[in-house]
Amino acid sequence: MPPPNSLLLLAVLLAASPHALAQQPPAAAACTPQERDALLAFKQGITISSDAAGLLASWRRKEDCCRWRGVRCSNRTGHVVALNLRGQELAGEISPSLLSLPHLEHLDLSSNSLVGPAGSIPEFLGSLRNLRCLNLSGMPFSGEVPPHLGNLSKLHYLDLSSYANVYSEDLSWLTRLPLLRFLSLIFVDLSMVSDWAHAVNALPLRSLHLEGCSLKSANQSLPHSNLTTTLEVLNLGVNKFDQPVASCWFWNLTRLKRLYLDYNNGGLYGPFPDALGGMVSLQELSFSAGRNTMSMASAHLKNLCNLRFLYLDNCFSNGFEAERLPQCSSSSNKLQELRLSGNQLTGPLADWMGHRTSLVILDLGFNKITGPIPEVIGRFTDLKALYLFGNHLTGHVPPEIRNLANLTWLDLSENHLNGLITEQHLHGLKSLQHVILSHNQLEIVVDSEWVPPFRLQEARFASCQMGPLFPAWLKWQVDLTHLDISSTRITDRFPDWFSSSFSKVTYLDISNNRISGALPKNMGNMSLGALYSSSNNISGRIPQLPRNLGTLDI
Ligand SMILES: *[C@@H]1O[C@H](CO)[C@@H](O)[C@H](O)[C@H]1NC(C)=O
Ligand SMILES: *[C@@H]1O[C@H](CO)[C@@H](O)[C@H](O)[C@H]1NC(C)=O
Ligand SMILES: *[C@@H]1O[C@H](CO)[C@@H](O)[C@H](O)[C@H]1NC(C)=O
Ligand SMILES: *[C@@H]1O[C@H](CO)[C@@H](O)[C@H](O)[C@H]1NC(C)=O
Ligand SMILES: *[C@@H]1O[C@H](CO)[C@@H](O)[C@H](O)[C@H]1NC(C)=O
Ligand SMILES: *[C@@H]1O[C@H](CO)[C@@H](O)[C@H](O)[C@H]1NC(C)=O
Ligand SMILES: *[C@@H]1O[C@H](CO)[C@@H](O)[C@H](O)[C@H]1NC(C)=O
Ligand SMILES: *[C@@H]1O[C@H](CO)[C@@H](O)[C@H](O)[C@H]1NC(C)=O
Ligand SMILES: *[C@@H]1O[C@H](CO)[C@@H](O)[C@H](O)[C@H]1NC(C)=O
Repeated sequence: MPPPNSLLLLAVLLAASPHALAQQPPAAAACTPQERDALLAFKQGITISSDAAGLLASWRRKEDCCRWRGVRCSNRTGHVVALNLRGQELAGEISPSLLSLPHLEHLDLSSNSLVGPAGSIPEFLGSLRNLRCLNLSGMPFSGEVPPHLGNLSKLHYLDLSSYANVYSEDLSWLTRLPLLRFLSLIFVDLSMVSDWAHAVNALPLRSLHLEGCSLKSANQSLPHSNLTTTLEVLNLGVNKFDQPVASCWFWNLTRLKRLYLDYNNGGLYGPFPDALGGMVSLQELSFSAGRNTMSMASAHLKNLCNLRFLYLDNCFSNGFEAERLPQCSSSSNKLQELRLSGNQLTGPLADWMGHRTSLVILDLGFNKITGPIPEVIGRFTDLKALYLFGNHLTGHVPPEIRNLANLTWLDLSENHLNGLITEQHLHGLKSLQHVILSHNQLEIVVDSEWVPPFRLQEARFASCQMGPLFPAWLKWQVDLTHLDISSTRITDRFPDWFSSSFSKVTYLDISNNRISGALPKNMGNMSLGALYSSSNNISGRIPQLPRNLGTLDI
């Protein structure tokens, strides 16, 4: 078995664009007339071609077909070995003339609108005995996957990801592909195949993608197999598993690097198995956005120091302790994204942050986490997104937060934070685009001359103290699309820059202040879709309102 690196290289070579293939040096041997005619017959089957890249225009009878774009020949024999027409916006039928290319090893027709007879995946593809890579992803096939593909005994890569009506009732043909490393059947309906796990278990797969296959169970008990030691990537997202999570068959896959089970519509439940703690190769683990109600129980992730992405949001109804997260020294810790929202987590925020200064995304929203935001936050300088909304955080926001130069999202809303937010906090946040501080007891105090270093798109400060003057620094926030300064104790008049600075704002809530005077006259050319301005002291005539305004509460 080749080491992972050479496999990667192979994948890169196989994925080479038609362009790259076209720039091959002149072939030593020219293509045979039979193969040239087969390709021209294939071209005949294409009824529509936007041919933006002019690819098929290069397919001219008089020229050596080895030099046609998308075609590659063996430089020894002159036989066509690769046909790569990925994403050429071709429509029509896949001609059986391909059978006259018996030396074909690589066939990529992906992302075109080509189909076989009656819209199906053509059975005759199963006769291209030398194929090592077959990519038919993103094509509008319907009907059953032909078991004839099981005749392709040299296949290493098979990609049948579909977004149409393809199904299979029996996957036993897979077991005749002893070299298969990569298999993707994304959105192929496999709801009739109960022994799918047995079929894939027989293969030496590195990478298996079965998202959206309408699978109902993953609790098959499997004999030890090559898969146990080969599989590195397993994606079973968007299926319907409804069973104890510990009964899933994949917990013994010791080589697994990436495991995804997002959007599980069934609902996995019960404790994670202790075996999880031993999966030290794991780099990405994701059970997001499903209907799961699991518990960590005695399982832990302490030793999983290779983890880069850990997504376990909305998984647990009883939380778990922060000690169960990877406990790695700062130098060996690789965690970049930690998403644990909606899990009833408790305990101080400092414990959940730990020394994980490599974090880029930290999402602990909708939990019951307590304590202050620790000053150590200033050392998490890689952070791009910090979501702590909907917790029980208390105390001041430490000024050290200014060190987070790459932070684009900051959401501290719906906590019990108090104290001041000043220029001291904000002046280093150069990348900030979304700031959400609503529903705390925070006071935002900045100099009226202050020019912020950021250009916000979203600013929500509901119930923060910002008044009595209309916050002058907002004048510079000309990219805002969402602005909520409701209940911020502003008792001022509308500033004259209101309509121009906020010209891109589509959602605006200024309600529950004491803003006085008339609405700005030139509101007509703002982009507002929703305007909430009730409970103020606004007087005078209503000016021309923005054309797109759908919601108006005055
Ligand atoms: C044939 O191609 C291979 C790899 O594509 C290359 O290493 C070799 O030098 C080529 N031989 C000739 C005669 O062009
Ligand atoms: C198949 O082609 C699609 C694009 O059309 C690509 O995203 C996918 O990675 C390819 N599969 C393999 C195995 O190369
Ligand atoms: C290919 O496979 C199909 C179905 O699995 C089978 O009926 C057929 O005989 C095979 N064809 C060849 C040429 O082996
Ligand atoms: C797998 O789970 C289903 C329910 O989803 C159950 O009926 C079946 O007995 C389980 N099989 C095994 C082997 O545990
Ligand atoms: C998987 O591990 C469990 C113990 O964790 C063991 O009972 C089972 O036999 C193993 N299965 C395989 C296929 O190795
Ligand atoms: C499993 O791997 C061994 C050696 O790596 C090989 O000899 C054997 O044929 C494989 N079995 C299957 C079912 O692929
Ligand atoms: C911010 O991100 C850039 C690249 O995205 C990186 O080069 C830089 O080191 C980061 N800055 C900090 C303070 O982490
Ligand atoms: C908006 O309208 C005012 C007058 O109603 C005008 O002076 C101003 O130039 C307009 N701005 C834009 C961006 O169209
Ligand atoms: C409301 O605005 C008017 C002027 O438009 C002012 O005289 C009055 O004092 C304001 N009332 C309050 C409660 O701010």
